Amino acid sequence: MKPPFEQALGIIRQLKRHGYEAYFVGGAVRDLLIGRAIGDVDIATSALPEEVMRLFPKTIDVGSKHGTVVVVHEGTAYEVTTFRTDGDYEDHRRPESVTFVRSLEEDLKRRDFTMNAIAMDERGTIIDPFGGQEAIERRLICTVGAADERFREDALRMMRAVRFVSQLGFALAEDTKRAIVQNAPLMAHISVERMTMEMEKLLAGPFVAEALPLLADTGLFAYLPGLAAKEQLLRSAAAFRWPWLTKREERWALLCRALDVKDIRPFLRAWKLPNKVIDEAGAILAALDDVPRPEAWTNEQLFSAGLERALSVEAVRAAFCGALSELHHEELRRRFAALPIKTKRELAVNGKDVIRWAGKPAGPWVKETLDAIWRAVVSSEVENEKERIYAWLMERNRTHEKNC
Ligand code: CTP
Repeated sequence: MKPPFEQALGIIRQLKRHGYEAYFVGGAVRDLLIGRAIGDVDIATSALPEEVMRLFPKTIDVGSKHGTVVVVHEGTAYEVTTFRTDGDYEDHRRPESVTFVRSLEEDLKRRDFTMNAIAMDERGTIIDPFGGQEAIERRLICTVGAADERFREDALRMMRAVRFVSQLGFALAEDTKRAIVQNAPLMAHISVERMTMEMEKLLAGPFVAEALPLLADTGLFAYLPGLAAKEQLLRSAAAFRWPWLTKREERWALLCRALDVKDIRPFLRAWKLPNKVIDEAGAILAALDDVPRPEAWTNEQLFSAGLERALSVEAVRAAFCGALSELHHEELRRRFAALPIKTKRELAVNGKDVIRWAGKPAGPWVKETLDAIWRAVVSSEVENEKERIYAWLMERNRTHEKNC
């Protein structure tokens, strides 16, 4: 058995020793069968949450009402969920109640897609009552049972379907796609936070070029923050080289650029992204406008941006223009390494020095003077040494006085 499953075997064996059924389920089994990197290993069991909590010394009650208990086993946390069927769905997002059942098949039946409704026992035997393996072989995403029902239960599943297209390069089964087109308006019930999580996975997938036009074709785009008027641009965005980007801030920056978003802050705020991500995406786009070509970075621009952001700017430019240049990345690294200082903290003088030298009370002039100093240092106009900077400053003041 492969390592992430092998490490969790102890949990399955312990449950079985006490007479319960227990299986690996969900994304990890799917990814094992596809031959993809395996993420979190989840377990489904016939044991009730309180029974699970009794059987293991270290558990966390993360949602026992919905059947889920986290079991910490050899330092790793695993979600162990009681076989369940969902009761009526409240507003197409989460079941009002769940009913615990003692059969695996009942549990698998309530899952979204056939590829996600496969279980594996402790010997590695696959239990696949809904044809998930066949769907994987045919590279198809299709719902378990009636697509309309699955999407009415949780409308986010429609977005998950398109996200899986981006991650796996599979196609949507015809009836699944048709049901998404029909049920797209149910997305209005979904929280922005859940949409954003799916959108970030979608934009990071290797097959994003197939997924973006699907957001347009299915009509889902109309319910995503700020995208309602962007159908055509969303289709065109498929042409950009998304897989060349490695950071979420770069992807949001490229999305803004691809969709020709004029006012990026309200657009990114509508996706409820953290301020740090919004600020960084904004700074990447501002630098992209300031530096017209990869070879046009001045020392001052490179210093202000810092190496990481400068590399992000060039990654976004490359993805947008379709021309990846490792050379420019190398050149930027070399030029940054050659800067006399890498941060303002490395400056040989500080605010106190310039106040003492000027004999004037502090004011906005201190920051202006320090800005002039770091600019002079990074452009090698003056060496980063206190006495040299002092002499340079005196000379600058003299020239300034003469000219005014
Ligand atoms: N599931 C579902 N409906 C949802 C979300 C999840 O039926 N709206 C089921 C699927 O069987 C899924 C499992 O719960 O495989 C675990 O869900 P989750 O961890 O969110 O996604 P994964 O499919 O594991 O995919 P990944 O970990 O790659 O995000």
